[in-house]
Parts: sequence; C-alpha cells; structure tokens
Amino acid sequence: MFKRFRRTRINPKLRELLTQTRLSTDDFIYPLFIKAGDPDYKKEIASMPGVYQMGIDEAIRECDALKALGLYSIILFGIPEVKDSVGSDALCEHGIIADSIRAIKAAHPDMFVTSDLCFCEYTDHGHCGILDLEHETVDNDATLKNLGKQAVVHARAGVDMIAPSGMMDGMITAIRTALDQAGFINLPIMSYSTKFASAYYGPFRDVAESAPSFGDRRSYQMNPANRDEAILESLEDEKEGADILMVKPALAYLDIVRDIRNNSRLPLAVYNVSGEYAMLKHAGAAGLIDYDRVMMETLLGFKRAGADIIITYHAKEAAVLLKGSQ
Ligand code: PBG
Ligand code: ZN
Repeated sequence: MFKRFRRTRINPKLRELLTQTRLSTDDFIYPLFIKAGDPDYKKEIASMPGVYQMGIDEAIRECDALKALGLYSIILFGIPEVKDSVGSDALCEHGIIADSIRAIKAAHPDMFVTSDLCFCEYTDHGHCGILDLEHETVDNDATLKNLGKQAVVHARAGVDMIAPSGMMDGMITAIRTALDQAGFINLPIMSYSTKFASAYYGPFRDVAESAPSFGDRRSYQMNPANRDEAILESLEDEKEGADILMVKPALAYLDIVRDIRNNSRLPLAVYNVSGEYAMLKHAGAAGLIDYDRVMMETLLGFKRAGADIIITYHAKEAAVLLKGSQ
C-alpha cells in the first residue's frame, strides 16, 4: 500500500478547501518614494519599471489609486533637496518626510502611514548615520541620538508607525525611549531587525538616491552567511521593545524568516526588495516567465515561510489579481 496524495488534488473545489495559505491585500505595505520640490513630479525608475519618484501631490493622488485597489498601508521614503553630513533634512519639522506625512495624513486619514527611519537618503556620504571621526564607518551611539530625534519628528507629523532600517545597535531602545518621553507611548515600531548587507538593494539606491559615496554597509548590515546572528538580531530587537520584526531581503532568506517565526511570537514582516522586484519585472518583460504567476507564487512563499506583513513593490499588481480571483 502507498498513500494516494492525488486523491485530494483531483477536484478543484477540494483543492480550494485544503488551501492552507492565502494572500490578501491586507498583507501588503506599498513603498512610496517622495521627492522634494515640484509637488506634481513623477518619474519612473529605469531599473524598477512601474516604480516612481513622486512629488507630494502626486503621492496624494497615488493613495487614491491604492485605496481603489484595497491597499491602505504605505511606507514612505524621502528624497530631500539638500543632503549634508548629518542628514539635517530628516531632523527638521519641515523636511521632506515630515511634510509628506502631514500632507498624506491630512488628505487620507484612513491610510496607515509608516515611515522608514534612516539617514542614508539624507546624508551627502550616503551612509545610514553620522560618520566617526576617522570617517571610516558610522558612529553607532552618536547616530542613536539622532534616530531618537528623527522618530519624534515623524511622530509629531502624525505618522502611524516607525520603521527604523539603519541596523544600529540599540536603535529600538533609543527610539522607544525618545518616543515615550515625547508622549508617543502608543506609536508602534516595526524594526528592520534582521537586515543583510545585500546586493539586492541595488535598484532601490537609484530610486532613493542613497548609494554610499565610499565603502559599503557591511560594518552595520549583516553578513548573509550567518544564521545564528540573524536570529539573535531579531530577538534583541524584541527585547528592546520592537512591536514587529522584519527580515530583509526576503527571497534568499526564507530560512531566516522561518527561524525567526519559530523563535518569536511577535508579528513578522518581510521586505521583498528592489532587486527581487526588478528580476521578475525584467524576466517577465523578456518573455522568460509568466510574470503574474511567478509574482503570486513568490508572495505566497513569503507568507508560507511565516510572514504576516509583506512590504512589496508588487502590491498593486497583486491586488488587481486578487480582486479578479474573488
Ligand atoms: C535604507 C533602506 C534601504 C532599503 C530600505 N531602506 C537601502 C539600503 O539599506 O541600502 C532597501 C529597499 C529595497 O531594496 O527595496 N536604509
Ligand atoms: Zn539607511
């Protein structure tokens, strides 16, 4: 005797009954890149077809389009007019992100707005914090103070969730303390808790204009080879008070997603990053794959691996397909 697995695969209705993992528009956070200056600006990024830098008014119109698709969660990245050594735009009440948060929340109080909290888009050297005296790497503890300030700026602008992405040690404690002292005790933190130094971020650095001017991010982002450290990083952020953990990138790190899922009861996000999106987009355009099906299979894989939240540039296309299949 052997087991006939195919018995439950033959009838499509039974296949539906036995489907364990389902995607929904409620799983997605859609990234928006907001450029200071012309509020109506809109420019597609060559390496990421379908992804745009937008002015503030354009971003507000984009939220109408997102809501029509059932998408109510966004994460904001800012591209300032002026960059300097500390990333002052990010610390200013009228910097691009603070202005964007206020404008979007005023026009769309029903959107759930998360802000990426880092300095690489705002510093002239492109690193994720202030440099140390030798200008060799990022000064961890000096950067912590600024992260606290930046978080309070976003909070005062009315953001719904803060997502620190700089991989500084102690960043969750620093941000939580600063937020609580400023009275924002109920503002959640979604930490980019396990973030690898990855070549998959390549296209993002075009769209966010945030490539480091020297060196790389390996002195703060994680070595892709290390599984134990990957778990420790997320568990440490849990201890420091993160409300949601994250693994980034997603596709090459699904073992880590499952490991963290099995080691923490906190909600878990994955960031389906720019290079992952670009690979599918360009392979689809070249006629090498069935783009829609590969996209849905990929997103399903993230959820099956244990992700509660998927941050993805595919969100709009996936929402269209999910609508069609209802
Ligand atoms: C900023 C940040 C990056 C991404 C999200 N936040 C880039 C980086 O760390 O270099 C990458 C997102 C993507 O590739 O889609 N710290
Ligand atoms: Zn950064």
